[in-house]
Amino acid sequence: MFILPLRYKTRIVPHFMPTDVIEAVPIPLIVVDGDRHILELNGPAQSLFGAAMVGRHYMTVIREPFCVQQVEAAINGRPSQAAELRRPIDEKERIFSLTASPRNEAGAVIALIDQTEAHDAERMRSDFVANVSHELKTPLTALSGLIETLSGAAQNDAEARGRFLGMMAEETSRMSRLVSDLLSLNRLEDADVITRRERLNLCDVIEAARRSLSDHAGARGISLVLQGCDAPAFLLGDADQLRQVFNNLIENAIKYGDENGTVTINVTREDHAALLRGPAIRVAVTDTGRGIGQEHIARLTERFYRVDRHRSRQVGGTGLGLAIVKHIIRRHRGWLRIASKVGKGSTFTVLLPAE
Ligand SMILES: Nc1ncnc2c1ncn2[C@@H]1O[C@H](COP(=O)(O)OP(=O)(O)OP(=O)(O)O)[C@@H](O)[C@H]1O
Ligand SMILES: [Mg+2]
Repeated sequence: MFILPLRYKTRIVPHFMPTDVIEAVPIPLIVVDGDRHILELNGPAQSLFGAAMVGRHYMTVIREPFCVQQVEAAINGRPSQAAELRRPIDEKERIFSLTASPRNEAGAVIALIDQTEAHDAERMRSDFVANVSHELKTPLTALSGLIETLSGAAQNDAEARGRFLGMMAEETSRMSRLVSDLLSLNRLEDADVITRRERLNLCDVIEAARRSLSDHAGARGISLVLQGCDAPAFLLGDADQLRQVFNNLIENAIKYGDENGTVTINVTREDHAALLRGPAIRVAVTDTGRGIGQEHIARLTERFYRVDRHRSRQVGGTGLGLAIVKHIIRRHRGWLRIASKVGKGSTFTVLLPAE
């Protein structure tokens, strides 16, 4: 911290920051006098602690021992460090970086910088790295186990060799799918990459997705029913991206739907959708599966979020599909709604602006 020599301080710096100066600062500021009473709080500090704190001891609002140490250091003209202060605001804990600087007269000025977003971003980054590493590690461990067995005991056993090679192919395709999903997400999150806007018939896109998943559905005895595509549904968008949306939603409905059940894809047109303030195409993908508990619904589009990790892994899911869906729909200025009842099934509804 830069400290002016005393003779300059007393001559050119005013006794305390005038109110209009601290009011102009957009972060919470608290001015404390030499007796440790609060002289002034600016607007942001008042919203945090309440205006009634003026005149009270500063420890009424700041009690954390390390924060108090820094304020005391500043009051005593000693160097202070940044300290972390946590406060619940609107039911969410916010994290501030507290700095205390000596006042020219006596006391200290306490400044609080909200670091919550930076903390959240850092936590997301490290969770992401941990998740990716874990998801890559699992098939890698399986592969190295299989290689070991193949080069040892199973070397001369043709039947085991075939089986193990099949398992190895499965694990590598799981890894390559994970990597391509990560690359997709990365491209979708990059604001500089522009989504194509070509005129297309959404029914063609959905039909293509349905066709490519029909074997998968057949293997579970599920019938895929497409409704509302007797007439075309035109919009402006990126066919490859929209194909990914319906691939992921229909694939989920098959994976998490009931065996021998039905997955319905219903396309409707609306002249005026309130959410989009204009004409829209609504596609609802409904399954009759086990459904999703309400507490999970808001989190489903987070990267790697799975309701039942073990079950999702068994069916080959890494929890990136709905994160990709969310980004693509957002890029098309649309909406995703998820409705579900445990034991009854789920409906994932996509609302997209019509041409
Ligand atoms: N139709 C559904 N019915 C029940 N649960 C679902 C349904 N769709 C998604 N889920 C739940 O939401 C989670 C996240 O879905 P998402 O598509 O993002 O991942 P995934 O299917 O597990 O993996 P991926 O799509 O990357 O292969 C799933 O793991 C599952 O728990
Ligand atoms: Mg999925």
